[in-house]
Amino acid sequence: MSETVLKVEGVTKVYTLGKRNVHALSNLNLQVKKGEFVAIMGPSGSGKTTLLNILGCIDKPTSGKVILDNVGVADLPEAELYKIRRNKIGFVFQSFNLLPYLNARENVELPMENNGKSKNERQSKAKELLAMVGLSGREEHRPQRLSAGEQQRVAIARALANDPAIILADEPTGNLDNKNKQEIVKLLANLNLTQGTTIILVTHDGQVASRTERILFLSDGKITREKNGLHLANKLMCPNCGNKLPTTEAKCPNCGSISNIKEPSNSLFEEEVAED
Ligand SMILES: Nc1ncnc2c1ncn2[C@@H]1O[C@H](COP(=O)(O)OP(=O)(O)OP(=O)(O)O)[C@@H](O)[C@H]1O
Ligand SMILES: [Mg+2]
Repeated sequence: MSETVLKVEGVTKVYTLGKRNVHALSNLNLQVKKGEFVAIMGPSGSGKTTLLNILGCIDKPTSGKVILDNVGVADLPEAELYKIRRNKIGFVFQSFNLLPYLNARENVELPMENNGKSKNERQSKAKELLAMVGLSGREEHRPQRLSAGEQQRVAIARALANDPAIILADEPTGNLDNKNKQEIVKLLANLNLTQGTTIILVTHDGQVASRTERILFLSDGKITREKNGLHLANKLMCPNCGNKLPTTEAKCPNCGSISNIKEPSNSLFEEEVAED
């Protein structure tokens, strides 16, 4: 069995607006395994961003437990949450959120400041990550000299800078045209498959959601149903014993048989998942 990287138990979030209470999340439960690629869909106002902010330790739940990489984070003081955000979580936003006066490499290096690595190590890690997202040769370009799709690639490289336990992406393709949308989703699927990166992404787009391996539907602050996505077909199943293999390993830990790691299929977006 794969290890659980994220466990959410009975999480409730109530915002107070004047005299009115807004129940953004209601007794929500969720488990995500290491190496999973999960989408969260749901109508506007259903609590998707609230959930992602709580998972990302940007916000705290009103009640309930959040266990990230075996650490209970719901009650931690801000100084501890800051360290967890920096070391365990990679954020990707709809609007990229790159610093305009820094080039691509410097944007990727930024979260690595004070992580104990030398300047040289930080630079070479940033270059390595930019190469991984297909941006070799663009390291010195500032965001305004990069296309929207390229800017989101830089943001994904930045999210990976401190080898996080989990990537949280809120509408990562929301500001992209169709071609860039497909490329970014393929990049995320590839990272998940080849690096074993655990990814949770929020999207309104059924095509994007269908490319993950598990789609959760949120309604009124609760997960009301879930569905398998197409990416599941890219995951290795041991041909011998049927066990789902960790993506970074070619040898089945269950029966020892050897397999090849698959590339995600190119037949993207065959199936669209409708929102509730
Ligand atoms: N800081 C806040 N103060 C008060 N109410 C809030 C706050 N943030 C969110 N809400 C409310 O909580 C509910 C859930 O909001 P949330 O932003 O999580 O929805 P969402 O599913 O991300 O929506 P969208 O698809 O439009 O991004 C909404 O009713 C929203 O108005
Ligand atoms: Mg939102």
